[in-house]
Amino acid sequence: MEWYEINKTYFTEHYLSADNPRSQSGHGGDEQHYFHNHFMLLDIITKSGSFIDVGYANGYLIESLNKWLNGINTLQVDFYGLDISHELIHLAKKRLPNWKDKLYTGNAFKWIPENKFDFVCVKELGYVPQKMEESFFEHLFNNYVAEEGRLILGPYSEEKMSRELEGQLSSWGYIPSGYIERSHNKSINVARRILYFNK
Ligand SMILES: C[S@@+](CC[C@H](N)C(=O)[O-])C[C@H]1O[C@@H](n2cnc3c(N)ncnc32)[C@H](O)[C@@H]1O
Repeated sequence: MEWYEINKTYFTEHYLSADNPRSQSGHGGDEQHYFHNHFMLLDIITKSGSFIDVGYANGYLIESLNKWLNGINTLQVDFYGLDISHELIHLAKKRLPNWKDKLYTGNAFKWIPENKFDFVCVKELGYVPQKMEESFFEHLFNNYVAEEGRLILGPYSEEKMSRELEGQLSSWGYIPSGYIERSHNKSINVARRILYFNK
């Protein structure tokens, strides 16, 4: 089976076997833990515009961001989603019918959007084989991010003392425009981080 098929099958079976929407998006903790791990994204959404979650799963992240944004400010953010799994996008469309026309099925490494986005969020680069990660990042930055837009990598967890991902991106010539960091709520030795890259 092709690499992407194996990966897709893993995510689809794992997420669809979960019994609540949070777990169906890949998060193992409770709602308070989820909030702690993801709320930092709001620091990066600094203007109104379009936002795509690359690797959308069942849409729980976007549903949460939309709820939190509505609670705190007046930015108008137009949300989109892309996932390689037809089954997960099908589930997302059933859960979130208001967004169903903005949800796409496709391999993010091959898919090219008709219109670029102000914010492009990808949790990790592991959606492609490791040796393709640099090209994947380049593909997202060049083909997805609008002028004056922002590519958001994370939130992800990393050993507090390591800046491995930042070092890797920098070695490819992509120096982050900024980052957000907070402690992991389960271990002082682990950091939750987001790197972002402005165009
Ligand atoms: C860790 S989940 C992220 C879920 C969501 N972004 C969130 O934060 O709740 C990863 C998702 O990426 C999708 N995915 C994996 N490889 C992909 C690819 N090459 N193109 C598009 N989606 C992919 C999986 O099907 C899975 O739903």
